[in-house]
Amino acid sequence: MRGNVSEIAGTKFWMTAETYKQICSRFPKGVTVVTARGDDGRPIGMTVSAFTGVSLEPPTVLICVRYASRVAPAFLRAEHFCVNLLSENQREVSQQFASRDFEERFSGMRWAVGPHGVPVLPDTLGYFVCERRDVVINGDHYVIFGDVIQGGINDSRYPLVYWASEYQCLQISTHAESQPPGRS
Ligand SMILES: Cc1cc2nc3c(=O)[nH]c(=O)nc-3n(C[C@H](O)[C@H](O)[C@H](O)COP(=O)(O)O)c2cc1C
Repeated sequence: MRGNVSEIAGTKFWMTAETYKQICSRFPKGVTVVTARGDDGRPIGMTVSAFTGVSLEPPTVLICVRYASRVAPAFLRAEHFCVNLLSENQREVSQQFASRDFEERFSGMRWAVGPHGVPVLPDTLGYFVCERRDVVINGDHYVIFGDVIQGGINDSRYPLVYWASEYQCLQISTHAESQPPGRS
């Protein structure tokens, strides 16, 4: 195993930022698009892989949004947001919502209006509609917690996976008989 234990002089850190990023990139992640309504009512969204379920009672999730992201302030003000869990055929959707031009992110995109007006994307694995709760600032990211107030699931799809800084398809083990849940 390659290691990097070279202490950075004068700090408590025993690794470089590059090593930190490389190790994080080795951990496979699903990909989501988090959507909400901006101040003017227009839909906003961004690609987020830093998502996890946190609590069952109450059902809570969190997302991490880079402090410097241009849409971050609008997400902090939005009372509700939707976490859309992307399926393997939605790489372009992920790219579009990570692109520089955030005004154009919904261009050509189909979406439905969910509870509290949140945009819900079609053809995903599922989605959570959340009411924003606490926001914690940690380092260069906001950690935004949301109470899940509604959700939907589409069992017959495989996930989009991000690993080693590339999009990947899930290699289903033979134990799972190569079928996503719900497919017969
Ligand atoms: C696969 C993938 C995952 C990403 N995950 C995150 C994330 O978890 N948090 C985040 O702040 N940005 C993440 N990004 C980057 C943002 O989507 C992108 O920087 C953002 O949309 C730019 O926003 P801005 O135009 O508001 O600055 C990810 C991008 C990609 C392609």
